Amino acid sequence: MTDKSGIECCPPNCRHLDTVAKGLIAVSLIVDIFMCRKDNYGYLIHDPATGKTAAIDAPEADAIKSALNARGWTLNDILITHHHIDHVEGIPALVAAYGAKVTGPRAEADKIKGLDVLVSPGEAVSVGSVDLLVRGAPGHTLGHIVYHDPVGRHLFTADALFSLGVGRMFEGTPGPMWEGLVGLKNLPDETLVYCGHEYTVANAKFALSVDPSNTALKIRAAEVEKAREAGRFTIPISLGMEKRTNPFLRSDTPELAKAVGLPANDPVAVFAALRKAKDTFS
Ligand SMILES: [Fe+2]
Repeated sequence: MTDKSGIECCPPNCRHLDTVAKGLIAVSLIVDIFMCRKDNYGYLIHDPATGKTAAIDAPEADAIKSALNARGWTLNDILITHHHIDHVEGIPALVAAYGAKVTGPRAEADKIKGLDVLVSPGEAVSVGSVDLLVRGAPGHTLGHIVYHDPVGRHLFTADALFSLGVGRMFEGTPGPMWEGLVGLKNLPDETLVYCGHEYTVANAKFALSVDPSNTALKIRAAEVEKAREAGRFTIPISLGMEKRTNPFLRSDTPELAKAVGLPANDPVAVFAALRKAKDTFS
């Protein structure tokens, strides 16, 4: 399908037509979403103004190559969020095939092979004419970064923030992890969240166990169940919806404090208790 500018446009989950309608085509990314490995999300972001394309993480080279071929795009950049193997394994094959430039977290440079450009929170990365801001979200890994397009309102969170959940706290501590999430939570509600895994149904079960009276959560849980049964993605999701339904982002509410038996004035302690409870939830 083509839009009125004659540019190839696209299927489900694409916001291109929306952004064209708003006259934002020169600064809006096209986001292509596909599955990699077992439950990783693959994302290609494409700047129609310049034709430049980047992959967010490199979970699986073959799946990313197939997505590029389907669009007729080539790969200019790979933007890495953290060092886990299911986010970096495709780097060598993609660099060999496309000569893509690889950008990743300076704090994890010793753990990721093949980084060409190192970035820290507060810096920016360009994909064609689009600037993505780098934000820190430590906890899942210590140097975990996320990429934020403030104009198109896209937020690529990998394993720092899932829909209805957050990544397991492998390396960090609750305080900095909560602070990183607060930084994301302060972004506009309209921001679209693209996370690293399709874990939403399992996350919804835990969320309902600690926040059973939350009407928005009940509705979202039913929707994601239906979406997965129909083989649809639960991503992207608006940050506004996550603020209303993700129990970890609601660690500063009386409801969630009560759920873990703590006073309502210590969100870090509530967040830590929720994260611990999720580790053993089944
Ligand atoms: Fe991870």
